[in-house]
Amino acid sequence: ERQKHIRNFSIVAHIDHGKSTLADRILELTDTVAKRDMQAQVLDDMPLERERGITIKLNAVELTYHAKDGQDYIFHLIDTPGHVDFSYEVSRSLAACEGALLVVDAAQGVEAQTLANVDLAIDDDLEIVPVINKIDLPSAQPDVVKEEITEMIGLDGDDAVLASAKSGIGIEEILERIVSDVPAPAGDVEAPLKALIFDSVYDSYRGVVLDVRLVDGSVKVGDEIELMSNGKKFEVTEVGVMSPKAVKRDLLMAGDVGYITASIKTIQDTRVGDTVTSADNPTAEALAGYRKITPMVYAGVFPTDNAKFNDLRDALEKLQLNDAALEFEPETSKALGFGFRAGFLGLLHMDVIQERLERDFDLDLIMTAPSVDYHVEKTDGTTITVENPAEMPDSSEIKDILEPYVKASIMVPNDYVGPVMELCQRKRGEFDTMNYLDKYRVDVIYDMPLSEIIYDFFDDLKSNTKGYASLDYEITGYRASDLVKMDILLNGDPVDALATIIHKDFAQSRGRAITAKLKETIPRQNFEVPIQAAIGNKIIARTTIRAYRKDVTARIHTGDPDRRAKLLDKQKRGKKRMKAVGSVEVPQEAFMSLLEVN
Ligand code: GTP
Repeated sequence: ERQKHIRNFSIVAHIDHGKSTLADRILELTDTVAKRDMQAQVLDDMPLERERGITIKLNAVELTYHAKDGQDYIFHLIDTPGHVDFSYEVSRSLAACEGALLVVDAAQGVEAQTLANVDLAIDDDLEIVPVINKIDLPSAQPDVVKEEITEMIGLDGDDAVLASAKSGIGIEEILERIVSDVPAPAGDVEAPLKALIFDSVYDSYRGVVLDVRLVDGSVKVGDEIELMSNGKKFEVTEVGVMSPKAVKRDLLMAGDVGYITASIKTIQDTRVGDTVTSADNPTAEALAGYRKITPMVYAGVFPTDNAKFNDLRDALEKLQLNDAALEFEPETSKALGFGFRAGFLGLLHMDVIQERLERDFDLDLIMTAPSVDYHVEKTDGTTITVENPAEMPDSSEIKDILEPYVKASIMVPNDYVGPVMELCQRKRGEFDTMNYLDKYRVDVIYDMPLSEIIYDFFDDLKSNTKGYASLDYEITGYRASDLVKMDILLNGDPVDALATIIHKDFAQSRGRAITAKLKETIPRQNFEVPIQAAIGNKIIARTTIRAYRKDVTARIHTGDPDRRAKLLDKQKRGKKRMKAVGSVEVPQEAFMSLLEVN
């Protein structure tokens, strides 16, 4: 009965089309958050999200809506990220819902991630309610966008709600549409417990907090639950919902979205996508769960202080708990010591993980330049996967190096097709097709090496199209390319953490650019440091960092010991994200300079 009045929905959109702002208005209109507690983008509660104005993590919240039919409805709203790096989070939240609001910017129209997210929602059989947002903008073209929704997505564009999350237009209509269009959950309350873990976080007091969607049955404090992937059993200590802060409940039942704690102390036991059931009365079959996600890029993560290796492992494990896309395994670098090789979905994901490690876990880190994974066919007939350029076998053992290729779909106004094609060609792209989306825009499709896309491609694309282009891509397979490993030598020694795999045609120019960049970023030492780029034994570029003569304090004649101490202290603090490689102090920027010189 209760289920008839539940609506579980998600909001999906291309980045910046206004999901989080719309979620704010919905929370406000339903009095979930009192006006005085309202701050913009309430659901983006990570400091990092607020600073950058983007949603990184999905967030679930329960609210009550008093509908025009006189009844109260319980809504579970799951906010999701828009950036392509986090689309995995989107698919996770959709699996917990029956419907989705599809937000499209009235001025920008349907974009690459609009389509990608709609596909995810359709895969999950969700009912989709289209919303055209930002109709307050002078540049809004709701009629054009309606047409795009009809033509490009195959939903009825005339059916879209016209809204402005900023000015509060159309919000009530959206809520009514959720009641009328999104189906109520249809689970069996009497059946054995069957719940999907769609997220989890570690809390030092309560242990692992599981965010769940109950499909069948119910759960309350004292129940014994079982995690179906590993058979581990736990006694439930608390159940509740997020509204948007945690609110304890006596019971969660079929259709509900809430949390469960059960003194789960070992984070390895829980996995998002797993099914929770009752230990006494287990359900026959686990839910489908999530498809396994493979990282796109890999990078070394090293503590600047080697003694922090275990802290870093602990932090990575905790982050992995609510970021299933993060993978890592121990790695040893001659230059950087003990650390981890971690896999990420893209550079933004990598950046976010680095910041969370440094902020939330107070670690100082060095991350090496990211690399894709290569399939190496060796002369002895075996094939190996290389995720770390330093581990590339000697060229005499290599028959072919295969690199991941993607199909890139770039949606852009007609006028910019030229610059987009030029950019793609420059990045080793091969033209595939071009589809006219409507009178104004085309979808340009290229086959491209993933390694060319993950770095600064998106920025270049934006700047070549005045910000109008949007990009989506998916891996299509591996292809042999003319690739070589380039070593960087500092002071005559190759630094494993600075090795890269590059296309032969770019080797010379990149070698020169990287050595020049390293010269800029590595501070002068009190001896001369030659920097060289080499392929095999052949040096292809070289430069030298000249020695400096005096230390910083030498110039202070006063001999004021206080001042001297302060300066030395400043110098020491400045050493954060700095690591001694052999006898040379190398800062974080140096490792990243490999990226900046594409
Ligand atoms: P991500 O969380 O990063 O995926 O973005 P988002 O889709 O949640 O977008 P967000 O709500 O952060 O809004 C992006 C920008 O658009 C912000 O600067 C908002 O203030 C603005 N915005 C949102 N809705 C409206 C609207 O209805 N009208 C206007 N003019 N601006 C809006």
